[in-house]
Amino acid sequence: MQHEMPLGCRLDLHDQLGGLPIYNPDNEGERTPAAAARWNEAVCAADGLVISCPEYAHGIPGGLKNALDWLVSGPAAVGKPVMLVHASHRSLVSREALREVLRTMSFRIFAAPELEVPLLGKKLAEYATVLDDAKWRQAIANCLAGFVQFIRQD
Ligand SMILES: Cc1cc2nc3c(=O)[nH]c(=O)nc-3n(C[C@H](O)[C@H](O)[C@H](O)COP(=O)(O)O)c2cc1C
Repeated sequence: MQHEMPLGCRLDLHDQLGGLPIYNPDNEGERTPAAAARWNEAVCAADGLVISCPEYAHGIPGGLKNALDWLVSGPAAVGKPVMLVHASHRSLVSREALREVLRTMSFRIFAAPELEVPLLGKKLAEYATVLDDAKWRQAIANCLAGFVQFIRQD
């Protein structure tokens, strides 16, 4: 997705959210851990969020939910455009749960058909075959262009 971003746009990767301390409202304000504060600032500074996550036992992965919880009491999520993208055609239960959480947090959800790149069951070495395919590169580029347009409509 980083390679297919529209001109002038940048996609930063936040793949270390699992390292955040467990959210606790008693540890906010002056006691907010530095990593949680940095995450909050990054979301505040971003024009939009792209979320891609697996589903475990029909649930939102704990690390992602915890990272979202760190945003709840501040303004980071309010009106912030967000798009879900998927590497599996399954995970339907957690997608709905995630949308409900995002709605509750006042994110602005990009409602276009969600991108599903068929990577489920493939080995890491096989990913390039799918991701280098012109059809999928175009699908990814289209989806990002649509999301950027959605952000700019705000
Ligand atoms: C413990 C465990 C539970 C899972 N539960 C679900 C599930 O409820 N629904 C689903 O669609 N996929 C489920 N999966 C599949 C994962 O969401 C994911 O598609 C799979 O682990 C492949 O991702 P990876 O290539 O990043 O490992 C589960 C996987 C694991 C390891």
